[in-house]
Amino acid sequence: MSASEEKKEITRDEANGLDKTLRPQTWEEYIGQAKTKENLRILLTAARERGHAAEHILLYGPPGLGKTTLANLVSKTLGTNMKITSGPAIERVGDLAAILTNLSPGDVLFIDEIHRLSKSIEEVLYPAMESGVLDIIIGKGPSARTVQLELPPFTMVAATTRISLLSSPLRSRFSGGTFRLDFYSDEEIATILKRSAILLGVKTTDEILDSIAKRCRATPRTANYLLKRCRDLAQLEGGELNNEIIDQTFNLLEIDDIGLGKPDRAVLEVIIQKFKGGPVGLNTIAAATGEEPSTIEDVIEPYLIRHGLLERTPRGRVASAEAYKHIEENLL
Ligand code: ADE
Repeated sequence: MSASEEKKEITRDEANGLDKTLRPQTWEEYIGQAKTKENLRILLTAARERGHAAEHILLYGPPGLGKTTLANLVSKTLGTNMKITSGPAIERVGDLAAILTNLSPGDVLFIDEIHRLSKSIEEVLYPAMESGVLDIIIGKGPSARTVQLELPPFTMVAATTRISLLSSPLRSRFSGGTFRLDFYSDEEIATILKRSAILLGVKTTDEILDSIAKRCRATPRTANYLLKRCRDLAQLEGGELNNEIIDQTFNLLEIDDIGLGKPDRAVLEVIIQKFKGGPVGLNTIAAATGEEPSTIEDVIEPYLIRHGLLERTPRGRVASAEAYKHIEENLL
């Protein structure tokens, strides 16, 4: 870019990364997850008809599959506001009390990464979820007493990538249901991308959408990210989004033909080359690749497992014959 080039006004959407505008705004626009959508539709419509707050809902699954988007649709369907927070943001009981007492009747409280709530906060949450009351201890020692605050009726929608880390008392309080979000099919991703391309003003073909769909790890967030990166290169190269631009973008991002990036391949390479295919423990893989164990478990492994490249066994992780073949053909 030359210094003499005119400075353009930056609009809000561009500054916000556009993600919000790509989010589906209606159930019709929300592609896939048919069973979850149907169950939620019945739960929410019935609650709304009765004039009650809907019961609490737990959503789980790998990142990027649309948990926050679903929570947004829940609050839209109920016709109420959504307040957003997350497990790590609620550090003290007072933080939770402030959030709960500020809700309006019927509001949706979205708690992301609920598995990161501390035990003491969880315990305050139980009566709030079950009976709509907040027990607050005032004072210390013999003069300490409990004050019970009545809360407005609300619907909690919680999301987690790690359901196994939730205690069973907490899990059992999601009386509206617990729903697992699945990876998307290539066809579903292509449909999502078609809408995104229109919103971004990018001209595409079915062939182009299919080739991005194949490389997005079955995840809408990644699909939209890849579409935007392809659009960026197309723009710098003169405008047209074609197969050559797509291949060039994936080469630059080091994403292979089944959508694995460097960190994904590094995990497989470590298991195959350093540990003869496994079994090998999670912490050993983390130390050898420099990735956090939680990133490996939450982000990297679910797709490798789904693709039949990796297996979790009681003795550790094992690479499949498919993984050997893939790594041989796609060496770093
Ligand atoms: N963006 C994220 N998840 C989506 C979905 N299920 N359908 C359409 N766009 C999405």
